[in-house]
Amino acid sequence: MPKKPFYITTPIYYPSGNPHIGHCYTTVACDSIARYKRMQGYDVMFLTGTDEHGQKIEQKAMEAGVTPKQYVDGIVATFKKLWSYMNISYDRYIRTTDDYHVEAVQKIFKALYDKGYIYKSEYMGKYCTPCESFWTDSQLDEDGCCPECHRPVKVAKEEAYFMKMSPFADRIEKLLTETDYLRPKTRATELVNNFIKPGLEDLCVSRTTFKWGIPVTFDDKHVVYVWIDALSNYITALGYENSAHADFEKFWPADVHMVAKDIMRFHAIIWPAMLMALDLPLPKHLAVHGWITFLNKQGEAQKMSKSLGNVVDPFMLGERYGVDAIRYHILREMALGADSAFSNEIMINRINSDLANGFGNLVSRTVAMADKYFGGKLPTEREAEDIDEQLIGCVSAIREKVDKCIDETRLKNALEEIFTAVDRANKYIDETEPWKLGKDEAKRARLASVLYNLLEAIRVISTLLSPFMPTTMPKVWEQIGASQSDVTYENAGRFGVLPLDVTVHKGEILFPRIDIDKEIEELNAIIEKNMADAKAKLSDAEKADEFAVPELADEITIDDFAKVDLRVALVKSAEKVKKAKKLLCLQLDDGMGGRQVVSGIANWYAPEDLVGKKVIIVANLKPVTLCGVESQGMICAADAPDGSAKVIFPDQSLPCGAKIR
Ligand code: MSP
Repeated sequence: MPKKPFYITTPIYYPSGNPHIGHCYTTVACDSIARYKRMQGYDVMFLTGTDEHGQKIEQKAMEAGVTPKQYVDGIVATFKKLWSYMNISYDRYIRTTDDYHVEAVQKIFKALYDKGYIYKSEYMGKYCTPCESFWTDSQLDEDGCCPECHRPVKVAKEEAYFMKMSPFADRIEKLLTETDYLRPKTRATELVNNFIKPGLEDLCVSRTTFKWGIPVTFDDKHVVYVWIDALSNYITALGYENSAHADFEKFWPADVHMVAKDIMRFHAIIWPAMLMALDLPLPKHLAVHGWITFLNKQGEAQKMSKSLGNVVDPFMLGERYGVDAIRYHILREMALGADSAFSNEIMINRINSDLANGFGNLVSRTVAMADKYFGGKLPTEREAEDIDEQLIGCVSAIREKVDKCIDETRLKNALEEIFTAVDRANKYIDETEPWKLGKDEAKRARLASVLYNLLEAIRVISTLLSPFMPTTMPKVWEQIGASQSDVTYENAGRFGVLPLDVTVHKGEILFPRIDIDKEIEELNAIIEKNMADAKAKLSDAEKADEFAVPELADEITIDDFAKVDLRVALVKSAEKVKKAKKLLCLQLDDGMGGRQVVSGIANWYAPEDLVGKKVIIVANLKPVTLCGVESQGMICAADAPDGSAKVIFPDQSLPCGAKIR
């Protein structure tokens, strides 16, 4: 009988910076599901790739002095290196710069145009450059900024093609609320209330302001704008509208698209609309997970960002603790739908408790006892007791539970189920006290039963864990004397598979216990250095990008402005104001006989930083008394992104008293 197909996808990643642990989550999760399904006997297609077009990449390449293609080639190589390092068993890797994808997207765009779903018009809206997204006023956050990255947006207008969305609104609402497409389904409410109920707006699907995109064949001023290009990857990679592949019939519709919450809207609304417009079947499930956030020293969860320097490097973690421990940790911590905070402490505690003390210890104790009491080879006599049934019952039941979790994309729960069996087996050791049995020759058969039951429990557990930790489990099989045919999916649902006289082989410690204090100190030092480096490295443009520009004050006339008398003045002397930590008292030459000004800049400037420098003052400000000291005017300074104030130093050749207009 031919194997049943199973198609699972990650998002295609932007190669605009090196991948980090956050990118690993979806990929490791999909990999574990793909491996599990292969183990179950499915014919699996696991797709990942990179989303290589767009203005941001064009800009980054320009800054780096290379072509966009050269730029993405370098980063794609790092992504591929990471996936191979993390043991990601993808079957296909799509790059949106691949010729077949370009050709297919052009055909898809034209087909949608010919069907009347795409039309030409003019776009005016709020545009977020970093996210390459236009937003409507109702979508902006409460500060009027981008709802995704919360950075300021700008008003932009251009000729563009649009895709009609309203014809699909009812079907999409039903898809989200009446089917189990969306996981977790609780997220449907926000989509329906925020996007569908207010009326689905047509989608801008082309751009004319940059070149690095797929050209629209019938209007070469335009390139296809991100989502039609990116989302189509899920079908072009199978050969839709191209001849590079021929698996579309076999694998479409996808069984699972897995994405993080920030791109849920595109996959829950726009993607189904595109497929409906193309008359294609819809994917079966969209699994949406949260972000891996970084828990900073203050206990606040921050989004990982290169500019903050808080991105956790998977290569570094893998070198220290092993790739499987990292895979386990990220999958075990994140519940579908919720964010999960990453901290070095949580990670190390998790590895120590579950892997070193829990599973690792179960294996090493069992193998060591079989070695010590029986020279590694179990005798065939047996003596069962009632308590064995509890262990056997628990272990035999987990495969079915794990199957269900995998089918519902609940990987954290799948691991929890498996670890209930680990705990049960460790408890069984405490209950049966094999070290006591080992002292009594008359208990040989009982001891053999106990150790055999433990080896069987380990066999089942390690088989079910192998899709999650594919490097370590073969080492376990070697230690417990299991052959390849013992560790199949079928045998993971049975007890009593290993030969009665199985031979164990003591091996390396699977998950060495981590010295938490030492490691935390070292990891914290690494992250602090990264944060400091990131701060120092931020280009001025990026700093400006990070900075939330305050709202513009109400409009004034030139006459209003003329009322403010700004002048150049020289700081002759300066001193701290006693009893007022923030204040400096400055004596100024203002070209008009001199004056004294008190300024709240003592946190950032020492008196010697200012003496001898020319500054700008508001010369006609009504005097006030600050902490008992009179201030005749104020010094002009700008608010910096880090919360400090930066004094404005004018051209130092200007004479004192020069007027600024
Ligand atoms: N190119 C688009 C996806 C197009 S799919 C047709 C994109 N790329 S991305 O590289 O910015 O992000 C890819 C995925 O990684 C997104 O789901 C994003 O949310 C996810 N993650 C990026 N950082 C993450 C964490 N810190 N934690 C979990 N997932 C994160 O969006």
